[in-house]
Amino acid sequence: MSDLASLSLFCATPEQVVESRRRTWPAWGGILNENQYYERYARLDQMEHADESKMITWVLAPRHDPTTIDFKCSCETYRRKGLVKYPGENEAREALYYGIAAVYVPPSNRGKKYGLHMMRLLHWVLAPHANLPQFPKEWGAPPEAQQSSGALFSILFTSIGEGFYRASGPGGKKDGGWEARSVISVTWEVPEIPIEKAEDPARWVWLHHEDMNEFWSKDVQFIKNSLATATEVGFMPHTKNPVAIVAPLPDGGVGSFHITRKLWGAEKAINMHQWGVKLLDDERSDCPTYATWSVDVQRPGSPSLVITRICAMEETFPALLAKLQEVARKSKIFDIEIWGLPRGLERVAVSTGGRHFEGKQGLLLPCIKWYGDGGTADIEWRFIEKFCLSC
Ligand SMILES: CC(C)(COP(=O)(O)OP(=O)(O)OC[C@H]1O[C@@H](n2cnc3c(N)ncnc32)[C@H](O)[C@@H]1OP(=O)(O)O)[C@@H](O)C(=O)NCCC(=O)NCCS
Repeated sequence: MSDLASLSLFCATPEQVVESRRRTWPAWGGILNENQYYERYARLDQMEHADESKMITWVLAPRHDPTTIDFKCSCETYRRKGLVKYPGENEAREALYYGIAAVYVPPSNRGKKYGLHMMRLLHWVLAPHANLPQFPKEWGAPPEAQQSSGALFSILFTSIGEGFYRASGPGGKKDGGWEARSVISVTWEVPEIPIEKAEDPARWVWLHHEDMNEFWSKDVQFIKNSLATATEVGFMPHTKNPVAIVAPLPDGGVGSFHITRKLWGAEKAINMHQWGVKLLDDERSDCPTYATWSVDVQRPGSPSLVITRICAMEETFPALLAKLQEVARKSKIFDIEIWGLPRGLERVAVSTGGRHFEGKQGLLLPCIKWYGDGGTADIEWRFIEKFCLSC
């Protein structure tokens, strides 16, 4: 049996979950000490986006000793609800997809193809086997799928470029894995004193914690309608004749958990009580105006207001930006980041002092793997924004 065939992918035991987190803290702990890092995980595990086994830690381990804590490497998956719209259909349908996160090989195990093999095997626990190529003989037997598998697609956000993930296909060829998509991201420095005259407060509603679930339900409806009409406004087409258009959805705790995750350990220092804002009286328009956010305190340097979801038109965007600056300034945050800016807003973004990055070269690159009919290259992924990150 080859070295790789002697290994398989297993759902982690509680001890392996602890070990996986112990390994990743030095790399991904940020400002959190070890205990804070574990406490944050414990809290997030119980939240709606992850509870009821929606979140699974996977380990690549020897077949003869699958529960060892000396496993080769680990990653996490999050079972999520998205939408798919096929050409010729009038409505988008619900679809199961997985978000992938925390792909980690400890330094002593790197460069031995363990990471690659774990990612190749992952398709076999996420997607229906009938939709995958033949399982390569040299890998031994396929890993045991969970009852919850049956994904139509899976997504991840890479900080190491596309190559490693594209090479991690399910069929043993050096291709066929996750493919990158382009995004526009923009950052702004927030002036300490407002440049624009204050927005009329009566036109806007702030969203607090308790408002978020209702807000996300409406946003889901908006995303559904947008897919049904297949409008291209605000999107950068990836392919001319897509086999399907897909979108992740922000409800079920998916859009809101970023508040806890990014702010953990600094809630008292950052005095923030509003987590979204929307323009009144335009909810019935084709393109309402709103944004949601979290505060990233984990990155080095000063905290940043990270926009998790944004919807606006060129005409309403400057006023929305003024509201974002207002809420940032109040909490002494002087940096705003929109990753996944809707197409058409770049001109305003730049004219308002935004630093604009575009394409597949960003620090964080969204990648998708499609398991339905057709190839991943023919899939249009809409609403690539920070709300759909798994971590
Ligand atoms: C990135 C990581 C998962 C790769 O795992 P690994 O087991 O060392 O990688 P493999 O031996 O399976 O390498 C497979 C291929 O990917 C390439 N690769 C490995 N690490 C890479 C990286 N950081 N960037 C780009 N390519 C990489 C290898 O060169 C190899 O290519 P080849 O087949 O042409 O030789 C591992 O280095 C790691 O955990 N790093 C720290 C955490 C991290 O960055 N995780 C990914 C977050 S998106």
